[in-house]
Amino acid sequence: MGKEKDSELMEKIVSLTKRRGFVFQGSEIYGGIAGMFDYGPLGVALSHNITDLWWDKFVDARDDVYGLDAAIIMNPKVWEASGHVDGFSDPMVECKKCKKRFREDQVEGECLECGGEFADAKQFNMMFKTNVGATEDESSVTYLRPETAGGIFTNFKNVMDSMHPKLPFGIAQIGKAFRNEIAPRDFIFRLREMKQMEVEYFVKEVDWEGAFSQWQKSMNEYAQEIGIDKDSLHELEVGDGDRAHYSKRTIDFEFDFPFGRKELWGLAYRSDHDLTCHAKASGVDLTYLDTETNERFVPHVVEPSLGVDRTVLAVLVSAYREDEVGDSKRVYLAFKPSVAPIKAAVFPLMKNKPELQEKAREVYKNLKKEIPQIMFDDNGNVGKRYRRQDEIGTPYCITIDFDTLEDNTVTVRNRDTAEQERVSIENLVEVLKKDL
Ligand code: GAP
Repeated sequence: MGKEKDSELMEKIVSLTKRRGFVFQGSEIYGGIAGMFDYGPLGVALSHNITDLWWDKFVDARDDVYGLDAAIIMNPKVWEASGHVDGFSDPMVECKKCKKRFREDQVEGECLECGGEFADAKQFNMMFKTNVGATEDESSVTYLRPETAGGIFTNFKNVMDSMHPKLPFGIAQIGKAFRNEIAPRDFIFRLREMKQMEVEYFVKEVDWEGAFSQWQKSMNEYAQEIGIDKDSLHELEVGDGDRAHYSKRTIDFEFDFPFGRKELWGLAYRSDHDLTCHAKASGVDLTYLDTETNERFVPHVVEPSLGVDRTVLAVLVSAYREDEVGDSKRVYLAFKPSVAPIKAAVFPLMKNKPELQEKAREVYKNLKKEIPQIMFDDNGNVGKRYRRQDEIGTPYCITIDFDTLEDNTVTVRNRDTAEQERVSIENLVEVLKKDL
């Protein structure tokens, strides 16, 4: 796709997601706030489906991964020990004239705003600072976590002592993380408040490479399961100079977003860096005792780290389609049924026929017990309802018509092919569930 077409595509996605209740600008009625977005009714359903499938695959379906939900605000010593207080920064330049700040790697020559001259680059720490308690001095300063991983490392001993896992094992967490990005941009791609899904997978040092390829494979499978376009997903081996301060090997999973090929997820081998640093700084023993060999050592760690918001965006971009049905153009989101916010919509053929309304309500009520993410729609004509459901990616539309009253069958219309088939009401749940 050409550059112009790509920015057009991004505009269409931003406009559709706002119009149809997926994503809104944060604090919009007050003019917004940079780097913050809110998920509306359909966006939160899409995002929950994505995180639920991740949890199913990476926690519940395995017997070696334990869940966790740690507090966002932690003792600031956590971030001193992890290296974030000193090292989590971007070089930034400030314009001498208008005082605007930019990331050094995103500007050349003069200020983009006023043409002024830049001062020398300075490091800018990306952690949000806050104060805990009533006193607002240096002693009460702490940070909003910049990655969910911190809570996992600090609970390593608690999980070991309470669950007694054997290596290799992982601890998984989904939650918010905060980064005061200098240049938040590209819709929900680079945010200041975001959500991550992370696993820290603890291994013996000799086993790290095997674990690394196993997680690499699982991440690729997950991408397919949630409908990320295979041809737009690429793996990049991150070079020595470009890796995070803690990593000995990193693969970036990159995606062809409309604004360019950019990092979607990361997979890193963090060695024993984190546990060693936390053990040293806290004075708490974070070693593992191998009861077979009687050896005591600090486990190494492999970390698949996935941003939820970037995943939502990659799923939206992968699903966006335009085609023609009959004589008219339509826009639809070809979501996998498992991530679609609404799995099916139920319609009475006509709004003003009480017998159709009653039957449609009955079908809707019974279906909803089995498949909660369904919708009832009797607004406008059926053609318009189809378009509305196509636009939000509903895989099936079920219409109750006069034949239904005679033979207990309904029409089930497929979003992607626009084809309709007659299905008996008693088989509906089975037909819909086969794709979920
Ligand atoms: N614990 C490792 C870690 O946080 P990272 O590469 O800095 O590594 C992991 O972040 C993932 O979090 C990224 O691949 C991306 O999906 C997401 N992410 C990072 N910064 C983000 C931001 N400012 N906005 C949205 N998502 C972000």
